[in-house]
Amino acid sequence: MPTLLLFGATGDLSQRMLLPSLFGLEADGLLPPDMRIVGTALSSLDDEAFRVLTSDALERTIEGARLDAATIQRFLSRLEYVNVDARDASGFARLAGKIGPDRGALSIFLSTAPSLFRPTIEGLAGAGLTADGARIALEKPLGNDLVSSTQINDAVAEFFSEEQTFRLDHYLGKETVQNLLALRFANTLLEPMWNAQGIEHVQISVAETVGLEGRVGFYDGAGALRDMVQNHMLQLLAFVAMEPPSSYNAQAIRDEKVKVLRALRRITAEDVESHTVAGQYRSGAIAGAVVPSYCDELGSGSPTETFVAIKAHIDNWRWKNVPFYLRTGKRLPIRQSKIVVQFRGVPHSIFETRGTALKPNRLIIRLQPEESISLLMMAKQPGLDRDGIQLREVPLDLSLTAAFSGERRRIAYERLLLDLIEGNPTLFVRRDEVEAQWEWIDRIRAGWKAAASDPKPYAAGTWGPSAAIALTERDGVTWHD
Ligand code: BG6
Repeated sequence: MPTLLLFGATGDLSQRMLLPSLFGLEADGLLPPDMRIVGTALSSLDDEAFRVLTSDALERTIEGARLDAATIQRFLSRLEYVNVDARDASGFARLAGKIGPDRGALSIFLSTAPSLFRPTIEGLAGAGLTADGARIALEKPLGNDLVSSTQINDAVAEFFSEEQTFRLDHYLGKETVQNLLALRFANTLLEPMWNAQGIEHVQISVAETVGLEGRVGFYDGAGALRDMVQNHMLQLLAFVAMEPPSSYNAQAIRDEKVKVLRALRRITAEDVESHTVAGQYRSGAIAGAVVPSYCDELGSGSPTETFVAIKAHIDNWRWKNVPFYLRTGKRLPIRQSKIVVQFRGVPHSIFETRGTALKPNRLIIRLQPEESISLLMMAKQPGLDRDGIQLREVPLDLSLTAAFSGERRRIAYERLLLDLIEGNPTLFVRRDEVEAQWEWIDRIRAGWKAAASDPKPYAAGTWGPSAAIALTERDGVTWHD
């Protein structure tokens, strides 16, 4: 009987995302019919109490129309619970007893603090639960620098091979992120231009309106660079910049991504001022509501950055001297993730435009909340043109939400949990990728430390400190807001 073991089953991620995602798979008939889901956490619950907790979580997170009573019943009947303290072997023995000798394929999901990864894995191994091809999924953060990430990876590697290890970056479960591969490699139109000859620069922005969201301990110890850039944004960059993989499989795709990550130009202590901006939000207003400053939310002073902008370069043949501007922050004016690819201008203009300069073409890929692709092109404005032809930038718009309106948009974890259960690692991050990501990030942090400057203030509801605007304006580039 296949079993999914969920560590941290009463925690926020499990209740808000993982269990609702498993329910989504249940509703679509995608879970193996005989699969058990065994939750574990510190709380002393029995199976029934865990089912009640989960049922409440489903009511909070899933819209009523999808909460069909028979499906809920079927799903809840899969759930069991064992309370486990990662530092106490007795819990693992109880767990092994509950699972029993005839356990079939075992998928283990660790949604706990990374400090518990090693004791949990050792506890599982002690109870004989790491054998027979068991798979393990690890939720971020995978450490907070290269050293700690290596320690976690080493601990995992003692009991699980790389093929059995599934490192999550939930951005890879998003349809639109996977769609980057389709856009680039299922069409012939873009790829001939997708290089330094055709592209002037790339912008990748992940803007959030939320603040700390109560994650005081975690976020303040991480900051935007480690929370968002080290993982999600570098993965987006790798998808945009990678060479065409030879096929759509885990090894080929991850081989190409890691080459990009390793080719990222190091940002040294000398470059850190000119290539990065760290910011921290003060009080301000978002959608008409006043919100407090980061430090007020935290309840103390803090040097943690809630915003970061970076000018990055990829030192390879394809991307020579093409800047990749990255920007992410909390308490920005809107929630929006997008990639803007600005192509080079025409080599020679035949139009004597008055008023409007020719604008270079831009491809805008919106990842969330709406999913769309626009190509901004110059077109002739209707008229008799007695004063010379008038041109205007117009969008060629493709709304993916409208084009696939019949399809339910799944949350990223549905896809990733199913891939874990079925053993498909394509959308999980390989060890060498994580380590290349940390190596690049650690340099920036070392540069910040050497510069000993505090993050620059910005008012909540704005696009970050003015230095982030200067970062691109110096190159004649404007952020696409
Ligand atoms: C998480 C970060 O990994 O991603 C959060 O820890 C952030 O701070 C979240 O809010 C953003 O994810 P999404 O899917 O809402 O863009």
